[in-house]
Amino acid sequence: MPQGLEKRVPEMPGKRGISESTSVARYALSVTIVFSLVTILYMLAAGNFFPSPIDEPASGSIVGSPQFTLFIVITGALVFLAAWSLALDLVFAKRKQHDSERELVMRLGQAAEWRDDETGDHALRVGEYCAAIASCLGWSGNELERIKVAAMLHDIGKIGIPDFVMVKEGELTPEERELIHAHTLMGSDILADSSVPLIQMAQRIAASHHERWDGAGYPYGLAKEHIPIEGRITALADVFDALTSKRRYKDAWSFDNTVVEIRTLSGTHFDPAVVEAFERALPEMKAIYDKYTSTARLFNISRAA
Ligand SMILES: [Fe+2]
Ligand SMILES: [Fe+2]
Repeated sequence: MPQGLEKRVPEMPGKRGISESTSVARYALSVTIVFSLVTILYMLAAGNFFPSPIDEPASGSIVGSPQFTLFIVITGALVFLAAWSLALDLVFAKRKQHDSERELVMRLGQAAEWRDDETGDHALRVGEYCAAIASCLGWSGNELERIKVAAMLHDIGKIGIPDFVMVKEGELTPEERELIHAHTLMGSDILADSSVPLIQMAQRIAASHHERWDGAGYPYGLAKEHIPIEGRITALADVFDALTSKRRYKDAWSFDNTVVEIRTLSGTHFDPAVVEAFERALPEMKAIYDKYTSTARLFNISRAA
């Protein structure tokens, strides 16, 4: 592992430090139970918990007395605290599970890019670019969060491509090109048959991110709206990041030159509506680009300025 690389995954969601409320809930529940038992035992021992039906009104009964009211108030407050803590616990547990899934996907996506990208960050950048574009297409909430994570797995099928093709210097033969193209189907197979919406979206993206709007892409040669929208968004984000990144076989393009190239590919390679959203997302795209470029500079990795 290159020196310092372990420091280059600073935004993994699992590291955010979610506070635990389990101990609060347990403590509140325990106090409530002990307090209630002691109070009830005390009242029973005193023999005045229930009013005597003969002695109406309940002279000497604790029911209705200030002590009894205090007991009810304190017990109610403790029960409320316990219920609130448990509810909070459920929310935190769900969030922690969500963050764990996200972190796993991010790390898997990075692993798939390791041999093809100097930093392994291609997957992370594509996820962020997709979210920026999708947001300008009107996506929000869970769907927006989902594409940001699912797009990180777009090249997961590269895990199945032999090293001699992935790291080959120079021109690929047609057979080797076929092998590279197969990463879409391999990725789709890896992610197939999931009941999890995130993985279902990731599968659609893995299968379709090299399709082209004009039908000249692969693996199926789908065209226009036959290509899932997530695939159309990821196709643009993927090319944008590939062009602005240095690879073994090419230098990194500048941000501005890449924007021009994307515009020229509208209606052929890319969905024109996605290109329009990309135009609206340019400030956000630039912010993401700058963030990763400055990180790369920090670790002496080449990216276009
Ligand atoms: Fe790909
Ligand atoms: Fe890619």
